[in-house]
Amino acid sequence: MEFSEHLKHIEQSKTFKFFALLKEKADLGIDVVSLITGELDEPTPSNIANAGIDAIKSGKTKYTVNNGILELRQAICDSLKDNLDIEYIPEQILVSNGGKHALFNCLYSLCGHNDEVIIISPYYASYPDMIKLTGATPIIVDTLQNNFVPNRQLLESAITKRTKAIIINSPCNPTGVVYSESTMREITDIVKQHSLWLFSDEIYDKILYPPHTHHSPLSVDSEISNRTVLLNSFSKTYAMTGWRIGYAAGPKELIEKAALVQSQTTSNASSISQYAALEALQSDDSFIETVVPNLLAKRDKAIKILSQLDKIKMETPNGAFYLFIHISNYFNSEISDSTKMALYLLNNHNVGVVPGSAFGADDYIRLSFAPSMDKIEVGVQRIVGGLQKLQS
Ligand SMILES: Cc1ncc(COP(=O)(O)O)c(C=O)c1O
Repeated sequence: MEFSEHLKHIEQSKTFKFFALLKEKADLGIDVVSLITGELDEPTPSNIANAGIDAIKSGKTKYTVNNGILELRQAICDSLKDNLDIEYIPEQILVSNGGKHALFNCLYSLCGHNDEVIIISPYYASYPDMIKLTGATPIIVDTLQNNFVPNRQLLESAITKRTKAIIINSPCNPTGVVYSESTMREITDIVKQHSLWLFSDEIYDKILYPPHTHHSPLSVDSEISNRTVLLNSFSKTYAMTGWRIGYAAGPKELIEKAALVQSQTTSNASSISQYAALEALQSDDSFIETVVPNLLAKRDKAIKILSQLDKIKMETPNGAFYLFIHISNYFNSEISDSTKMALYLLNNHNVGVVPGSAFGADDYIRLSFAPSMDKIEVGVQRIVGGLQKLQS
């Protein structure tokens, strides 16, 4: 069959692919442990879930305005002011079906053929394909030799006349790196100097391990506000991945165009999720503040179990909930890349991880330490057993 040119270079998400493979095994009754998906183990807090239920019961189940109900967009402005000390008005906010959708609407409004968009590798797996869907070309800045952090030299070497934008993600999925204020300043300087757009994906802004703090490029340098789009979501901070709700905040003209894309494709995000999100923003941060110490304990447990392996390398993540592990010292003639390694761990040791190639780094695998402590203990021990077998 002849499919559209748009899809010519688009690949299936490896996270979803491995999750489907794992599910097939689980459905056969096999005891498999998934360290694949990036979502909290906790249910959505009950006050937020109840706000969704109340919305259904009170008939708030119709179309809303396309860009999101005014109360929610105002609450987003208030939270951006409280958290980052940045002023927005509701016309600068677009509520979409998740942070991913918000990013796509904005990218699609800004980029097309002849444009290049810089992404920092290791990157969130969807960025390259999203950029390709707009017709633009992803340009990869590799930070493997620089502890996963970009710098002026690396970024400038990738800039051409066609460069339209840079996408950054701190705290980062998959590396857990949190950019320092000085790294952010280097980025904002480059954005200004070359008149670029900046997309700042801040979806893990509340998942940080002490003493690390979040630096938004906008709080570092407010002068870039007319060329920056901040992206955030309710998925990670409020355990709401299935509710599909997130937002973009940016210059009014761009947000209007992104809203146009949304209006002709999906229309408004679910009305029920919008009311639940409003409740999330109106409550305090106590949910995520209790989750972070649990994540920290799981991170440290996973690192301790992995320390039995002397041929892996990994940085301790300072934010988000992933371990990005250099495993190529365990490659052999049959298991010679990260996809084969992830398949081996799934098929022979019943533990699901994501191959590093999904994030632009084929010598690595990613595991999520968001699942329960029990699953972390069993799953990570299975990874250790699997890798030790390859060594012997
Ligand atoms: C860096 C990053 N951006 C965006 C997303 C998408 O999140 P959402 O569920 O809000 O679409 C994810 C999800 O894993 C992510 O890790």
